[in-house]
Amino acid sequence: MLYLSRDDPELTQLVSDEKNRLNNTLNLIAAENHSPQSILEIMGSDFNTKTIEGYPGKRFHAGCAYVDRVENLAIERGKSLFGAEYINVQPHSGTSANLAVYFSALHIGDRVLAMSLPHGGHLSHGHPASITSKCFDFSHYEVNPETGLIDYDKIRDLAHSVKPKMIVAGASSYPRLIDYRRIAGIAKEVSAFLLADMAHLAGLVAAKVIPSPIPHCDFVTFTCYKTMMGGRGGVILCKKIHGRKIDKAVFPGCQGTSAVSLMAAKALIFKLAVEEKFISIQKKTIENARAMAMAFMKKGYRIISNGTDNHLIVIDLTSKDITGKSAENCLESVGIILNRNMVPEDAKKTGKVSGIRIGNGAVSARGMGKSHMRQIVDLIDIALMSPAKKDMLTEVKDGVLKLCQAFPINGSV
Ligand SMILES: Cc1ncc(COP(=O)(O)O)c(C=O)c1O
Repeated sequence: MLYLSRDDPELTQLVSDEKNRLNNTLNLIAAENHSPQSILEIMGSDFNTKTIEGYPGKRFHAGCAYVDRVENLAIERGKSLFGAEYINVQPHSGTSANLAVYFSALHIGDRVLAMSLPHGGHLSHGHPASITSKCFDFSHYEVNPETGLIDYDKIRDLAHSVKPKMIVAGASSYPRLIDYRRIAGIAKEVSAFLLADMAHLAGLVAAKVIPSPIPHCDFVTFTCYKTMMGGRGGVILCKKIHGRKIDKAVFPGCQGTSAVSLMAAKALIFKLAVEEKFISIQKKTIENARAMAMAFMKKGYRIISNGTDNHLIVIDLTSKDITGKSAENCLESVGIILNRNMVPEDAKKTGKVSGIRIGNGAVSARGMGKSHMRQIVDLIDIALMSPAKKDMLTEVKDGVLKLCQAFPINGSV
């Protein structure tokens, strides 16, 4: 931070404060992770200066010899890592990637079937607040209220009545495996495209610790900063036949210039993702999530779907008489960072957020294991059950700090 401290001491202080915050809190946000230090380096590299439009060999500005090599590296490594026929590494985010897929394959007003937000879906899957719902006619499927699992027969019934041009499989807060093969069968019956949005799952898929949607789908999108640990940005994988339309939909359709430093970070994480270190973090992430789900259930918490197959769990706090927001605030005050989350039942009650979502990617990347997950559950339980007892909260805060100090971030990934 040599030059930053000279130019802007205030920002330098904020960077340092954020570093301390990260080091001294437990990050349980399912949509975050700690990236390898080399990812942070490449994201801040000289590639930030270069303005590019177009694709390697077909640019609209001069001086692209090295950035063409960067984008081609990301393309080759990404295709090989995921076994994909085609890849576009330019999307700025997961939402940009989804928009490009919609605009490549659909016409304005076309029907799309996706998972409802309170049941686990994402804003960019046709939520009323998202531009996606203003451009396309979304219908939504839900999980079974008793089991918390996707009801594939209901998706099939809905697909036959709605006749969508695209089905979206994928979620922000669905803790179970998705049967992509089954949804692909349904899509085929109604001649719909299938998009899998594996924003949360990409690292787990890359490490082959959960099944891949890629063989079953026309399009697959993901973000690079969740389980993938690769810095900001999004990626689109697709069948070769859709490649030209996808490229046009990304640039110039939905985006202008792309971020070369982020494409370089994508190339880097695609290289690191075949190494043992990355794979063992992904394995540990799932083991840890399961251990945490078990520990919460033993304490009487209601876990949506009674467990997890991936990196996250969703807890319904209704029976504990705590709202998602108050749990989020109480836990932040003791150094445990997570987010409030709707549970399926909240769909019926406007504005209600009854749960929290917990992700295990970041604590697993720090090296913590199953016994530490049980410790974290104890700490969360004490804090949530005694939000007004200052001495108890201080005890929890100390416990959090001890864990953080035992597992420093620097050098862990
Ligand atoms: C399933 C899913 N899709 C898309 C996105 C959007 O990603 P971004 O915020 O990078 O646009 C997210 C983000 O959390 C997500 O969970």
